[in-house]
Amino acid sequence: KKILILNGPNLNRLGKREPHIYGSETLDDVKNSLELLANQIGCKIDFKQSNHEGDIVDSIHNAEDEEYDGLIINPGAFTHYSYAIRDAIASVSYPTVEVHISNVHARELFRHHSVVSPVTVGQIVGLGTKGYKLALLSLVKEDI
Ligand code: DQA
Repeated sequence: KKILILNGPNLNRLGKREPHIYGSETLDDVKNSLELLANQIGCKIDFKQSNHEGDIVDSIHNAEDEEYDGLIINPGAFTHYSYAIRDAIASVSYPTVEVHISNVHARELFRHHSVVSPVTVGQIVGLGTKGYKLALLSLVKEDI
C-alpha cells in the first residue's frame, strides 16, 4: 500500500514550537520513525508539510490520480475552519485518518471542533507523534 502523510501550517516548526505542548521531536524525526515503521510493515509513505491551504487541497486531489491507498492528515489550525480541506477530503475515494499531536480537547475552545473529522474514517488525538504511527497501522494493517 501507498499512504500519503500531510502536515499543515506551523508543523515545520515542530520541536521548536511550544515544546511543552508538542514535544521536542522535529518533523524530520517524525518522518524518519514513520519510514522505519513503513519498512517494517511493508508499505510506502510520502511525507509532506505545507503552510498553504491550496497546496494541501492540491495534494489531496493529486493523491487520487496517483493512486494512494489512504491519507493521514494533521491539518494544524486549518482543522478548525477549513471547509476547503474538508471538501477536498470528501471529494476523493481513499480513506483519510486525522491526527493531532496535542489533546485539542484539553486546550482552547476553538480547538475542540474539527470541520474535517466528519469526512474522515477516524481521528487520533492527544497521543503525541505516536498518533501518526497508529494511523499508519490502522490504514495498512487491517488485522491490527
Ligand atoms: C494540532 C492542533 C491544532 O489545534 C493546532 O493548530 C496545530 C497542531 C496538533 O497536532 O495538536 O497546529 O493539529
